[in-house]
Amino acid sequence: MGRIVVLPDSVVDQIAAGEVVERPASVVKELVENSLDAGASEIVIELEAGGSSLVRVSDDGCGMDRDDAVLAINRHATSKIRSSRDLVGVATYGFRGEALAAIAAVSTLELETAVEEDGGVGTRVRAVAGKIESVDRIARRRGTAVSVRRLFFNVPARRKFLRSLRSETRAAVEAVVLLALARLDVSFRLVSEGRVLLDAPRTSQIAERLAALFGRRFAEELLPVDFASGAISVRGFVQRPADARPAGRRAYLFVNGRPFKDPLLVRAAEAGYRAAINPGCRPSILLAISLPGESVDVNVHPAKLEVRFRDRFLVERAVEEAVARALRPMEAAAAFGSGSVGFRSGEFMAAVAPGLSGGEASPVTEGSLFGEAESRAPLAPGGVGNPIQVFATYIVFETPDGLAIVDQHSAHERVLYEAAMAQLKSGGAAAQHLLLPLTIELEPSELAAFEEHRDLFRSVGFEAEAFGGNTVVLHAVPNPHPRFDARRCFEELVADLTRGRFGAWKNRLERFAATYACRAAIKAGQLLEPVEIRELLSRLFACELPPHDVHGRPAIVQLPRAELERRFGRS
Ligand SMILES: Nc1ncnc2c1ncn2[C@@H]1O[C@H](COP(=O)(O)OP(=O)(O)OP(=O)(O)O)[C@@H](O)[C@H]1O
Ligand SMILES: [Mg+2]
Repeated sequence: MGRIVVLPDSVVDQIAAGEVVERPASVVKELVENSLDAGASEIVIELEAGGSSLVRVSDDGCGMDRDDAVLAINRHATSKIRSSRDLVGVATYGFRGEALAAIAAVSTLELETAVEEDGGVGTRVRAVAGKIESVDRIARRRGTAVSVRRLFFNVPARRKFLRSLRSETRAAVEAVVLLALARLDVSFRLVSEGRVLLDAPRTSQIAERLAALFGRRFAEELLPVDFASGAISVRGFVQRPADARPAGRRAYLFVNGRPFKDPLLVRAAEAGYRAAINPGCRPSILLAISLPGESVDVNVHPAKLEVRFRDRFLVERAVEEAVARALRPMEAAAAFGSGSVGFRSGEFMAAVAPGLSGGEASPVTEGSLFGEAESRAPLAPGGVGNPIQVFATYIVFETPDGLAIVDQHSAHERVLYEAAMAQLKSGGAAAQHLLLPLTIELEPSELAAFEEHRDLFRSVGFEAEAFGGNTVVLHAVPNPHPRFDARRCFEELVADLTRGRFGAWKNRLERFAATYACRAAIKAGQLLEPVEIRELLSRLFACELPPHDVHGRPAIVQLPRAELERRFGRS
């Protein structure tokens, strides 16, 4: 008896605050979202001590009148929804009516605000630990400034969890970056200890916003994504595979303009790279997903950091496909100098291999992450000229807008990788039966590696059986090209699998396919006949991702005509 009590409001508020306000960056996020919801066009964020001494967010939005300003700090006070029905497809960042109350409960909060109609008169509300201490008339123009001081002063346990000043500052900047990516039409400025850390003026060009947030160089590494499937559309940018690095990747997801976290969707995007990335590297991705409001529930996380999709599988598929298509066109190939060769692989396929075309690539468009994109002008018609081989290693040919240089080994690797993946998934390739079986001696560890991958060997065309001792006999072998050396390929493949050369690849099929492709592909230094060159190009352009090999290196490098002209002083 008497063990259960109803908690006092002050405790309830602190508990609720814990869910919404984890660190200064959460305060920044909530306040900036409020400013955006208020229709601000200019938002300034000021930090002191990483936000733990002060977070101030000022905007030129609609402001609040005196009554609303007092109400705003109460729990479940919101102007944004009226009933639970409004939750479906809610278009404002906020809707829970909790953020200000939660922040106020664990800080000293000062709210200064004014509406247009009050002609220069506004209100200042001061609250300490959620309790309103004073409400004053002040002079101010339209808009709102919220200052949050001494965060967690009454929750010492929380204060202890704060990390270094630098990492709190970084998290706060990240929170602003996310929203700045979503809203190009608003200018954002973040000042920490008097230093401007972020300055993003309003713009209509996503490229400009990206440059303002991350620098020009990063913006140039990105390829546009623009894909729609049914009611789902995916737009944004993905990093060119060869530019992906082991650390420091950026992964930003938005759904209907709202940032959210979703590791599974990031993984789906990575799957879209089809092994074009070195397994140790991670690509940067910025993807904005749009879908009907009723297909996504944004009210599943106290800080709205996660969402729930009604049909997650469809969304994952759309994301993966969107990324794969973005990497497919020739523009996605690495370029010498600046600019890129403006033509598409679809034209390539038509030119190199009439009738072989694996389907037209979707048109690449540029524009804003969320707004209407304008499609790129149609490309000049034309072929690929006469390809020639140089250094017995590269294939060079003219394109409508420049020169393309293909690495014959990388290209063939891409071709064989995609073929092997298809075979591994469907469970079989055409093998060439040998009149005289090959006998191969392996080391014990190699024999074990072979046994372990036996089914995969069979799928790509190696029919082999253990013959007692450490001997394996090959009855049938794949036949990827006329100069294929089956014995050498098999030995190298077994050795790679044994020594884990491709160990970073977690997916067993991908690892095997990549290893096989690498070992079976024609090598650099191999002279090719003109017909073989054409055959290789036509197969390459029938691939899903022609411009990239399977280690994060380019298979094609382009030298834009404009770059030549610049170098020769013709432009
Ligand atoms: N910068 C601002 N400008 C104008 N009105 C504001 C501003 N910040 C808050 N408000 C008003 O105060 C209300 C409460 O804000 P609060 O952030 O607590 O809740 P919310 O945004 O409605 O929902 P959520 O808890 O999901 O953020 C808002 O609904 C809005 O009417
Ligand atoms: Mg809010």
